[in-house]
Amino acid sequence: MTSLKVYVSRKAHFSAAHRLYHPSLSEAENLALFDKCSNANGHGHNYTVEVTVAGNPDPISGYVIDLKKLKRIIDEHFIQFVDHKNLNTDVPFLQGIIPTAENIVAACWLQIQPHINEGSLYCIRLYETENNFVEYKGE
Ligand code: NI
Repeated sequence: MTSLKVYVSRKAHFSAAHRLYHPSLSEAENLALFDKCSNANGHGHNYTVEVTVAGNPDPISGYVIDLKKLKRIIDEHFIQFVDHKNLNTDVPFLQGIIPTAENIVAACWLQIQPHINEGSLYCIRLYETENNFVEYKGE
């Protein structure tokens, strides 16, 4: 069974505030670009992140990666930094980055990828709302 490539996913949730705003643009330009997402005092989302690791099941354990371990990696290296935080000001790895879903998912990849030692990180999907989500595959 070791020649099988299997995709293993773990979901996690966090709640955070952000404001979409570029300092080099005027208030009017920010409003035109980001609309209500540029609201001066921010707004919040309940985000869901799905992390997928690909690999061959280990011949002994049968696991690609132990999901308890994947949960711990996601919590320790991503969720604890963003949950109940202001993404514009509180998160070291988002400093100077507009916290769009696109930029958050790429930052999440950089946080998590170095810690995946079984299988390989394949995809991270980030839901900002039920209907709006982005994916990053490390490219
Ligand atoms: Ni938003």
